Amino acid sequence: MFQAIRYRLLFSYLAVLTLILGVFAIAVRITFAYTLREELENRLAVLAESASGELDLEDKGLEVDGEDILLNPNQSVQWFDLEGRLINQLGDDPLTVPFDPDQTLQTQTVPYPVKGITLPVREEERNDELIGYVRVSESLEGIHETLRRLDWRLGGGVVLALILSGLGGIWLTRQAMQPIERSFQRLQQFTADASHELRNPLMAIKSNAAVALKYAEGIRKSDAEKFRAIASATTQMTALTEDLLLLARTDQAPRQKQDNVNLTALLGELVRLYSAQAKIKHIHLKGQILKQMEVSGDAVQLTRLFTNLLSNALRYTPKQGCIEIQTRREGNQILVSVQDTGIGIAPAQLERIFDRFWRADRSRSYGSGFGLGLAIARNIAQNHGGSITVTSQLGAGSCFTVRLPADVDRVSTDITADRHTAFP
Ligand SMILES: Nc1ncnc2c1ncn2[C@@H]1O[C@H](COP(=O)(O)OP(=O)(O)OP(=O)(O)O)[C@@H](O)[C@H]1O
Ligand SMILES: [Mg+2]
Repeated sequence: MFQAIRYRLLFSYLAVLTLILGVFAIAVRITFAYTLREELENRLAVLAESASGELDLEDKGLEVDGEDILLNPNQSVQWFDLEGRLINQLGDDPLTVPFDPDQTLQTQTVPYPVKGITLPVREEERNDELIGYVRVSESLEGIHETLRRLDWRLGGGVVLALILSGLGGIWLTRQAMQPIERSFQRLQQFTADASHELRNPLMAIKSNAAVALKYAEGIRKSDAEKFRAIASATTQMTALTEDLLLLARTDQAPRQKQDNVNLTALLGELVRLYSAQAKIKHIHLKGQILKQMEVSGDAVQLTRLFTNLLSNALRYTPKQGCIEIQTRREGNQILVSVQDTGIGIAPAQLERIFDRFWRADRSRSYGSGFGLGLAIARNIAQNHGGSITVTSQLGAGSCFTVRLPADVDRVSTDITADRHTAFP
C-alpha cells in the first residue's frame, strides 16, 4: 500500500517538475529566438542604412559604388531602381524571392533560409526624391544552428534535472513516508493487540452467560432475557474482534502459509455448506466450478475470502433470487466470480464498498454486519497475489470477481481439467 502511495507521490512530483521545467525551457527558447531575430533585424537595418548611401543618381542613370560596404560572409545587398529592376548586388546568398517595395521585411526558406529588409533610397540633394531601393539580407542558418544547439542543451538539461530530481524524489518520498508507515504499523499492532486481549474477557462473559442460561429455571424470567441479550452482544463483539484481528494480521504479515490449495474442493464445499441457508431464503444457489484448480496459499484465509462473498450474496439477495459461482481460467490466472440477483450497489458507492466499516445499508435492514467482510476479502486476495473487482447494477444484482494466480507447478495436463462440475 505504501509502495503505491510512494510511487504516486514521486510521479506527481516529477509530473509537476516536468511541467515547470518544460514551461521554463519553452520560455527561454522563445525569448532567445526573439532576441536573436531582433539582433539580426538591427544588423540588417544598419547595413541597409549604409548600403543606401551607395546608390547615386548620376546623369547616366543609377549607379552603385559598393566599395565602402563591409559585408559578413552570410550577408548580401541588392540595389533596385524604381521599376524594381536589379541594378547591382553584393554577397553570395541574396534573397531570391521577387522584389516587392511594399514589403519591408521578407523571409524565404527555400532554396536557403534568408531574412531581408527593404529600404527606399532618397537623394538628399534632390529634395529627398525617391531614386531606388536597397534590399539587404542575411542567412538564417547561423540563428537556426544556435537554436538547435540551445534545444539540445535545454533538452539535456531538463532530462538531467529530471533524473537528479527523480533520485532526490525517491529519497524524499521515503523520508516523508517513514513516519506515516511507522504510525500505521503502530495502529495495526494496537488493533491486533486490543482484539487479541479482548478475546479472553469476551470468552469469559460468553461462557458465564451460557452457564447462567443453562440453569435458567433458577433465575427470574426478566434476568434470563438480559443474559440472552448479553450472550448475543458478546457473540457480535467476538465476531468483530476476530474480524479486526484477521484484518490486522493480513495487513501485517501477509501470508504465512504457502500450501497447495485445492480451489475446486474448497468452492464445492462452500456451495454445499451454504445450500441449506440458501434454501431457507428460497434462493437458488449453483456453482459451475472447473476441475483441478490449484492455487498456493492459505486454505483458511481463502475459505474466508469466498465465505465473505457468498454470505454477502445471500444477505443482499431477496427471496426467489439466484446466486451463481463461476470459475474460468485466463492465462495463468484463475477467475472466480460470485454473481447474485440481489439489491445491487449504486455506482457512486462502488468505490467505497471495500473500505473498512463502510455499509450502504446504515439502517441494518439486511442484518447486523460490521462492514469488514469485503475489506478482509480484498486483503486476502491481494496477499495471494490476486485482486478482487466488482460490477453491479442497482436493483439488478452484483458480480464480485476474484483473480488468483494459478499454481503453475501443479497446472494439470489432464484434458478433462477444464471441464466444469456443476454444484449442487
Ligand atoms: N452482494 C452484494 N450486493 C449488494 N450490496 C453488497 C453486496 N456485497 C456487499 N455489499 C455492500 O457493501 C457493503 C460492505 O460489505 P461488507 O461485506 O464489507 O460488509 P457487511 O456485509 O455489511 O458486513 P460484514 O461482512 O462485516 O458482516 C455492504 O454493507 C453492502 O452495502
Ligand atoms: Mg459482508
